[in-house]
Amino acid sequence: MKALIFYGSPKRNSHTAQLCSAFLKGLSKSYEVEIVRLFEVMPTPCNDCGYCKAADGCSKKDLEKVMKSFLEADLVIVASPVYLLSYPAPLKALFDRFQRFYSARFRRGIEKPVAKPKKSVLLLTAGSDGAEAKEIIEAQTKRAFSVMNTTVIATVLADNTDTKPLSQAALQQAFLLAKSL
Ligand SMILES: Cc1cc2nc3c(=O)[nH]c(=O)nc-3n(C[C@H](O)[C@H](O)[C@H](O)COP(=O)(O)O)c2cc1C
Repeated sequence: MKALIFYGSPKRNSHTAQLCSAFLKGLSKSYEVEIVRLFEVMPTPCNDCGYCKAADGCSKKDLEKVMKSFLEADLVIVASPVYLLSYPAPLKALFDRFQRFYSARFRRGIEKPVAKPKKSVLLLTAGSDGAEAKEIIEAQTKRAFSVMNTTVIATVLADNTDTKPLSQAALQQAFLLAKSL
């Protein structure tokens, strides 16, 4: 079984990393875990060039390895801080690059552009009250994943990180969520 983490924080020692670690502590060792650090990958943004409307894949080749890992994954963890009620730019750029699957489905009539079904969990941290951001990010992510055979099954939100240490309740929630998979 393969678990793929899309990691959205620019920092390694971060609130998001703490939440991610709690999740990984609970995850069965039968998962092979790969982490994609989006601030290191820095995906080229989608510029709606039209390539994927006519052909499989993308005109930009910087994410071939990432997309291969995604296609092979059983579990996709999106672990990210909230930036302006959304994902940080590199993670948002990755999500825009998923447009190739939308084009495959609706422009080229491919029934299942992603063959292997996947579960996904969102691990979010926010400096202040994160309720609105959680709603927006869940909607964004579910929209993208709807053509990607990927189902968001749960979100863990650790908010108010600007003023408090990361909530023990959120860490426990992440741990128990992983245990339940
Ligand atoms: C550019 C930027 C935008 C942010 N926007 C929000 C926001 O809209 N809402 C919020 O609650 N926190 C916001 N924050 C705070 C981060 O979400 C918060 O500090 C988070 O815990 C950082 O996670 P990290 O330590 O894993 O990088 C923002 C931080 C930055 C740097």
